[in-house]
Amino acid sequence: MSQVLPEVGETRPDLGGVPAGLGLKRADIAFAVNGTAVSVNVPPLRRLSQVLRDELRLTGTKVGCDAGDCGACTVLVDGDPVCACLMPAASVAGASVTTVEGLANGRLSALQASFLAHGAAQCGICTPALLVAATALLDATPRPTETEVQDALGGILCRCTGYRKIIAAVMEASSQVTSLDFRLPESGHAIGASPVRLDGVPKVTGAEKFGGDSFPADALAVLVVRSPHYHAGFAFGDLDGWARKHPGIVGVFTAADIPGKNCFGVIGPFADQPALAEGFARLRGEAVALVAGEREAMSDLDLADFPIRWTELPHVLQPCEAQAGDAGLIHQDRPSNLLTSGFVERGNPETALAGAAVTVSGAIDTSYVEHAYIEPEAGHAYMDGDTLVVVACTQAPYMDRDETAKVLGLPVDKVRIVPTATGGGFGSKLDVSLQPLIGLVALKTARPAALAYSRNESMMSTTKRHPAEMKATIGADAAGRVTGMIFSGDFNTGAYASWGPTVANRVPVHASGPYATPNYRAEGRAIHTHGPIAGAFRGFGVPQATIMQETLYDELAGKLGIDRLDFRLRNCLRNGSETVTGQRLESGVGIAECLEALRPHWARAQADADAFNNARGDQRRGVGVASCWYGCGNTSLPNPSTIRVGIAVDGSVILHQGAVDIGQGSNTVITQICADALGLPLERFRLKSADTAISPDAGKTSASRQTFVTGKAAEKAGRALREEILRFANVSEKATLRLDGAAIVIREGEAARRIDLASLDADADGFVFRAEETYDPPTLPLDAKGQGKPYAVYGYGAQIAELEVDLKLGTVKLIKITAAHDVGKAINPLLVEGQIEGGIAQGIGMALMEEYIPGRTENLHDYLIPTIGDVPPIETILVEVPDPEGPFGAKGLGEHVLIPTAPAILNAIRHATGVLVTKVPATPTRIRAAIREKEARA
Ligand code: FES
Repeated sequence: MSQVLPEVGETRPDLGGVPAGLGLKRADIAFAVNGTAVSVNVPPLRRLSQVLRDELRLTGTKVGCDAGDCGACTVLVDGDPVCACLMPAASVAGASVTTVEGLANGRLSALQASFLAHGAAQCGICTPALLVAATALLDATPRPTETEVQDALGGILCRCTGYRKIIAAVMEASSQVTSLDFRLPESGHAIGASPVRLDGVPKVTGAEKFGGDSFPADALAVLVVRSPHYHAGFAFGDLDGWARKHPGIVGVFTAADIPGKNCFGVIGPFADQPALAEGFARLRGEAVALVAGEREAMSDLDLADFPIRWTELPHVLQPCEAQAGDAGLIHQDRPSNLLTSGFVERGNPETALAGAAVTVSGAIDTSYVEHAYIEPEAGHAYMDGDTLVVVACTQAPYMDRDETAKVLGLPVDKVRIVPTATGGGFGSKLDVSLQPLIGLVALKTARPAALAYSRNESMMSTTKRHPAEMKATIGADAAGRVTGMIFSGDFNTGAYASWGPTVANRVPVHASGPYATPNYRAEGRAIHTHGPIAGAFRGFGVPQATIMQETLYDELAGKLGIDRLDFRLRNCLRNGSETVTGQRLESGVGIAECLEALRPHWARAQADADAFNNARGDQRRGVGVASCWYGCGNTSLPNPSTIRVGIAVDGSVILHQGAVDIGQGSNTVITQICADALGLPLERFRLKSADTAISPDAGKTSASRQTFVTGKAAEKAGRALREEILRFANVSEKATLRLDGAAIVIREGEAARRIDLASLDADADGFVFRAEETYDPPTLPLDAKGQGKPYAVYGYGAQIAELEVDLKLGTVKLIKITAAHDVGKAINPLLVEGQIEGGIAQGIGMALMEEYIPGRTENLHDYLIPTIGDVPPIETILVEVPDPEGPFGAKGLGEHVLIPTAPAILNAIRHATGVLVTKVPATPTRIRAAIREKEARA
């Protein structure tokens, strides 16, 4: 529960526009939920979603926006899907309500089973709503068409999956009763299998607990007072007097109450963000004060009279404004508004471009992109003795612990982070948000404190993808070999540093694309403005830079008269190539294999487009291709993960798996790796997920590092545990292991030894055998010219986009995406496909519709993300060129899969229309304007 301080003249968002304070009188409301009669005593206008969650503790119904935009709260009322957030409790009197908890009747419904079998639930936050809406569809239409599924689920947003597996799960639900096989693979066969995800069942029953699903009944509710201005000074009035006027308020807290260092930031030397602003705010939505109170009192508290006086100050929102001579410093302790820059130089690019047979130059701008995970930030905190416990959604529990401890002046071992399920993150939940705030309230009041961001404050206050202003020139010789490239990009990093330094440093390393570029210079600059904080978002700036490079590659191919796919194949990195940082890639380079895998699809797609275009209407079909590469893990920085695994007395294999699974599947993939390394079956594994008091640090879930880095740690730990057991049994490494109840059987040749585990001494953790291993990828620092070995492993991919453009309207209809990705080894092919489809959906959004504008698109009504009708069929081609460093040859893929989508779409639009849209997203207005400009020039 939270609230943003309204601007003058702004009405407080509330149910049906009802003014605060009205509709508070309670009434008894009787209805049925999942076949059981219930009665609640609540204000009649209370949202049904709130009643279900708070009064009836049916937290399977999720709240993503409280505005009917995301559909996460969909339930059935008398069989019809409705958004429970828009439905007053009084309107269900006498009705029958079905929530996700009512779908399973002792066993999973066929639809729930189908969702698991198809991998249709990733993070799972949207899953309950999709299941209940699809149940209504299937009740009426047992074998729906794809269009019927899209129509029925069109109001429910999913940010993870790309929807294709959801469509398949619904269409094939009727066959799942008999065909679903929950059996897990045999010992030694986990790698390469696609078992039902190990943490999947709670996602389809509604039992999964996300950040806002387990608030203690006695928790204080916390509201955050936020700046309505981009840049403003502020002074508080009589806070105590104001609090006394509002019964139920327990405390008001400001920066003056923070006991530690009021400064956090994910990259230590650049840390610059206060948990609560002091004296002035640098961005719209910045937190300046907290109000904590009893839940009922807070639910209707109006902050309009909160005693704060604002003084608006000049602000700059664009990097060019921030770098103008008269621009004020956004951070007084920095010499300029340039936060930092990254640089890579190799050879002599000017000479190479001067001598090139052809050169092309261009400029492209991109926009802020909002992560738009369906779960806004949520969590609660409480004191356990002298330890602060924070239970919240996150991607980085150990970083949260360290940041929270610093702000609150606590030793790190007096802060415990217990991650809940996380309903999408995509990079933004790497930064702390509410953790120090609820921690402060719990610390000061000794009461549990709970907070769930509203959609509006989540979008206002948390990080975004960096808008980029990029320029580049690329040259090639007459044979079509790239000879040189110069790139420069300004990245608007907003008011605070967050991951700006990472973006500035990663972009120059990757801006060449996966192509041999012997002469090269690239610079990336992170520039402060008073805009939203830009941080980590799937790709750390590489998706933006790839748009620049891949669109220029199409121009180069055109000038040279070379087929666009052939041009890429002619230049792509291969085993033995050197990258722009001088890193020699000895093996595992799979970009050529990806491009070759696309070749038949490329030929077919172009033939289809030619045939279509011969009809010559206002619709033109286009085909585009683009590639990606991406270094897995941190750039030239330590990046370790630690995994602990042990065997308990009862024969369970306990895996301390601290890599937070935000939907991508690390709970399953890491276990698969460990199982085969150890040589025991998946079914004997019991997971202990991330908890800073229990599990060793497996690092943050970012930078496509978990399968590679934590997976490698799991492989090492599994092998180490196996060796310990073999040593104990005094047998060779050829021996096999088998668990038989609470005994382990070790067989070598004809000899078998059975060890009763209860006969062994268990350690303090209950293990009779245990191993713990750490892996840190071998990288080397970059020198002043950006030369070095920034990553140990790279992943590669290429995608084809097929689409139609309406030349009169500028609208784009996607026909198909074909994606070939080299993942080294697909540990779990179904989960890999899910990542690819989800990444493509986000790439579609970036290419065609997503543009976050502060003050204008701070909700999911005005900020558009792809719906189930926006994602075309996706054909996935898994390429497996093993990397010797990766676990069982595996590479990361989480970021890679988004990177080629937008440039492939822009190239396809140009193929269809002859125009390149140079401001992304390519909205119909921009496409139409570009076409008009071309027509005017003709
Ligand atoms: Fe749909 Fe995460 S699985 S939002």
